[in-house]
Formats: sequence, C-alpha cells, structure tokens
Amino acid sequence: MGYLTSLSSACRLNNLFSGGAILLICLTINGCAQPKAVKSQIVKKSGLDAEGRPIALSVLPKTIVGDIDWVAALKEGILQPKYSLEANPSPESPILNMDIVFNIGEAYPVPNVVFPHAPHTMWLSCNACHPAIFIMRQGANPISMDRIIKGEYCGRCHGVVAFPFTDCFRCHSRPK
Ligand code: HEC
Ligand code: HEC
Ligand code: HEC
Repeated sequence: MGYLTSLSSACRLNNLFSGGAILLICLTINGCAQPKAVKSQIVKKSGLDAEGRPIALSVLPKTIVGDIDWVAALKEGILQPKYSLEANPSPESPILNMDIVFNIGEAYPVPNVVFPHAPHTMWLSCNACHPAIFIMRQGANPISMDRIIKGEYCGRCHGVVAFPFTDCFRCHSRPK
C-alpha cells in the first residue's frame, strides 16, 4: 500500500511539473495505479507517447538500433534547421564531400572506420572540430576507442549529442 501511495504521489508531483524523468518512471511502472483517462491526459500534456518518447520525434526515421536517424531526417527533408538565430547570419559554411578512413589493425576484429565530412558539415561548421578537436591533417590525431569512450575526439559528441558507441558499425563501416 505504502508503495502504491508513494508512486501515485510521484505522479501527482508530475502533474505539477509536467514531464521529465519521473513521468518516464511512472509510465513504465504500470501507470502509477492511475485511472486510464488521467494517464492519457498526462501523456498529452507532456508531449510524450506511451513509450515515453516525445511525440514530435515519432515522425523521424530510425537507425537499425532504434535511435533517431538525424542524418536521414535531414536528407529526406523532414528537418530543415535554421542556419542561425541571428537576423543577418554570415553565409552558411559549405558541405564538404570528403571521407576519412581510419584503418584498424589486423589485431582487432572490427571493420575500418569511415569519418564522412558530408553529414557532419550539414550540421556543423569547420571550426566546431578544427583545430580544437582534430588537427586538420589525416593521421595527425592519436585517436583510439579508449579515448573516444572517455569523451575525447569523436566522443566529444558521440554518446553525448550524436548517436552512441553501441552503434559500432555505423562508424566501423568499411570492411578491411
Ligand atoms: C565533426 C568534426 C569535423 C568537422 C565539422 C570538419 N572536420 Fe575536417 N576532419 C575531421 C576529422 C576527424 C579528420 C581526420 C583527422 C585524422 O585523420 O586524424 C578531418 C580532416 C580534415 C582535413 C585533412 C584531410 C587530409 O587528407 O589530410 C581537411 C583538409 C579537413 N578536415 C577540412 C575540413 C573543412 C574545410 C571543414 C568544414 C567544411 C571540416 N573539415 C569540418 C573532422 C571534422
Ligand atoms: C563514433 C564512431 C565510433 C563508434 C560508434 C565506435 N568506434 Fe571504434 N573506433 C572509432 C575510431 C575513430 C577509432 C580509431 C581509429 C584509429 O585507430 O585511428 C576506433 C578504434 C576502435 C578499435 C581499435 C583499437 C582502439 O582502441 O583504437 C576497436 C577494437 C574498436 N574501435 C571497437 C569498437 C566497438 C566494439 C564499438 C562498439 C561498441 C565501436 N568501436 C564503436 C570510432 C568509433
Ligand atoms: C562536433 C561533434 C561531432 C564530432 C566530434 C564527431 N561527430 Fe559524428 N556526428 C555528429 C552529429 C551531430 C551527427 C548527426 C547526428 C546523429 O547521427 O546522431 C553525426 C553523425 C555521424 C555519422 C552518421 C553519418 C550518416 O550518414 O548517417 C557517422 C558515421 C559519424 N558521425 C562518425 C564520426 C566519427 C568516426 C567521428 C570521429 C572521428 C565523429 N563522428 C566525430 C557530431 C560529431
């Protein structure tokens, strides 16, 4: 009983602060023992679907591991981000069609890595990466998986704001 009471008070708290982590927890623990009608009101108010995902994201394409495929969304024209919030932005930086291949040693049973400039420069300008994260010369950066997972190099964005490490083969995409 105490268990149920504390769950439904978490939900009431949630009614006040619409959304957030508590709501996710509530929706997964059997709807916090709330009547169905009340539950769907919460869902609507918070903008989350029954799985706790923002409704606005449900129209976007997904990768094979189930993350939002932001690159495909841009390519398919579903998303058309503004380049800048400024009234008179400086001209957009160009999309660069240049793939960089990182060869992985035979000792490791994973395919080589392809870093594609094109989908990155659709979102980011050159100085988001050069020179602070990557020296602008192929092979000039001592990148390793270990350092990526610690949040360096690709890990400055991947696993934070871009798709996570668990999607190995999206980076390790070229057979040796
Ligand atoms: C998301 C990060 C990122 C962005 C944004 C980015 N680059 Fe790069 N760039 C890289 C990486 C990673 C490498 C490879 C570094 C290495 O091999 O150690 C690279 C390498 C390069 C190289 C060296 C190629 C060679 O053969 O030596 C040039 C030139 C370059 N980038 C130009 C640009 C320009 C111009 C832009 C903007 C239009 C840009 N980059 C945007 C990450 C980025
Ligand atoms: C965001 C892109 C990205 C993702 C995701 C990623 N890797 Fe990597 N990985 C790299 C890069 C870049 C290197 C360094 C290439 C080099 O040696 O120059 C690397 C290197 C490696 C190496 C070589 C040894 C080392 O430590 O450098 C192994 C093994 C490896 N990755 C395994 C994995 C596995 C397993 C996964 C999934 C759990 C994974 N990677 C996910 C980009 C990625
Ligand atoms: C400054 C941020 C940043 C850095 C650093 C960065 N990425 Fe990305 N990357 C992104 C964003 C943003 C996207 C698009 C959003 C998404 O797919 O999650 C992306 C997408 C990608 C894609 C998907 C391309 C497609 O066509 O679907 C690959 C592959 C990738 N990154 C590999 C790498 C590798 C390898 C490195 C390191 C060498 C790296 N990225 C470093 C921000 C970054």
